[in-house]
Amino acid sequence: MLSIVLLPWQKWLLIHALELNEDGTYRFKTVVLLVARQNGKSTLMQVLTLWRMFVDGAPLVIGTAQSLDIAEEQWRGAVELAESVPELAEYIESVDRTNGKKALRLTTGERYKVAAASRRGGRGLSGDLVLLDELREHQNWLAWSAVTKTTMARPQSQVWAASNAGDLSSVVLRHLRSLAHRALGYPDGTDGMVDLPPLGEDAGEESLGLFEWSAAPGRSVWDRDGWAEANPSLGHTVDERSIAAAASTDPEWVFRTEVMCQFVNMAGLGPFPAGSWSAALDTKEDRAARGVRRDESRPACYGVDMSHGRDMVYVAIAFWDTEGRPRVEIAAQRSGPDWVLPWLTSSKRRIPPTHIAMQRRGAPVSSLWDSFLEAGLDPTAWEGPNLAGWHGTFYDLIRSGVADDGVVKLTHGGQPVLDIAATTADIRPLGDGWVIDRKGSPADASPLMAAIAAVGLLMTNPGPTFVSAYEQGGLTVLD
Ligand SMILES: Nc1ncnc2c1ncn2[C@@H]1O[C@H](COP(=O)(O)OP(=O)(O)O)[C@@H](O)[C@H]1O
Ligand SMILES: [Mg+2]
Repeated sequence: MLSIVLLPWQKWLLIHALELNEDGTYRFKTVVLLVARQNGKSTLMQVLTLWRMFVDGAPLVIGTAQSLDIAEEQWRGAVELAESVPELAEYIESVDRTNGKKALRLTTGERYKVAAASRRGGRGLSGDLVLLDELREHQNWLAWSAVTKTTMARPQSQVWAASNAGDLSSVVLRHLRSLAHRALGYPDGTDGMVDLPPLGEDAGEESLGLFEWSAAPGRSVWDRDGWAEANPSLGHTVDERSIAAAASTDPEWVFRTEVMCQFVNMAGLGPFPAGSWSAALDTKEDRAARGVRRDESRPACYGVDMSHGRDMVYVAIAFWDTEGRPRVEIAAQRSGPDWVLPWLTSSKRRIPPTHIAMQRRGAPVSSLWDSFLEAGLDPTAWEGPNLAGWHGTFYDLIRSGVADDGVVKLTHGGQPVLDIAATTADIRPLGDGWVIDRKGSPADASPLMAAIAAVGLLMTNPGPTFVSAYEQGGLTVLD
């Protein structure tokens, strides 16, 4: 009726993912679908959605995503499909296209709503089918935990999540995939897996179905068998020539993640997608050749961090350059904490320490907080939601820097301490997001923490720094 003939893998998937228990409930409460991009995941979920609504009579379908666009795009596709078939269009009662509250309602009462990824998203609703497209984009558990709870009270409910492979920041996808791989005895090894306790007696994952099409570990980028493993639509809607074109033009990590559906750069290669950190390199020499300087009309920000072993302190500086891009550098590093204050407040500092970010509590550097206040500085406490939030900001700047073909959004100078930290640091979950794990990282991660603090503060657009000529001239105040 939809004029879509399911591809063999799509048909196979539906037959198995919709298997029933003897009591008629679904065998899988959660279905995670991993296939390379452009193979027909979103289309398949749209077909499933319409079947559940029009044929199965499922009262409520909820689409969600960390970014609303993705869920709305998925919704739009399903609505357009339904509208294009007269026999289905007849049953459409209303289509609400209001941004942020898109909803499709059938004359028979079934609804398909898009819920934002907030703590409230989906709460109070009881979903029979919950859809999460592009699960790799979920860098925190907000959307997942808000909306998956809605299926608890529904006997005929399922959560469907589709994606191509993710990276270290894909916390939800990595966790679910790790649960499934653990149950199978880690057939692809443990690289990239979340650290889970060994499987207990309970085997609580039995209602989780992972359907993964991915190239076997160790395949070369040009191994056509690997292409076929990750692209079940190859020879149907996906052709070898377009994959070959991507293999020769995409950076390797992009190709592996998107076309071979492999979890790359997961073995202690740092929190950023492979290749993205080095792509953000802009050397001092290149900058000098282009005549790029710091934009002195805009404020610069310092970030201060101390190593886990308390032996090193790093001061990073983030500023805008005359090409309009943010840049981060390690401005100073030395052992022990005693040098930091004199260094920051030295009259030789060309950039006054007006904007400083550091952790006030719970970090090694926090022991310096009071002395900063006593010295008359006014540091910004990097804490609360900003802790994970600024990590996300930094991550997005680095990652999107590569995706946009050469347009680097945040640059760094390839300084060894920062390079090592950025390419080795481990992360740990915090609240709904993640942060760098100073203690668990194989090398000192605190230069990266200092950099993230500096950039995070810079991105909040702190007010400009007014430095009066008198202050700079060492004015003595008489009173
Ligand atoms: N069964 C099918 N028959 C024909 N074309 C399909 C089928 N499934 C998907 N497609 C087409 O393949 C393309 C990619 O599908 P999409 O669902 O967007 O892929 P993905 O979500 O995996 O990236 C779209 O143009 C879609 O219309
Ligand atoms: Mg898609």
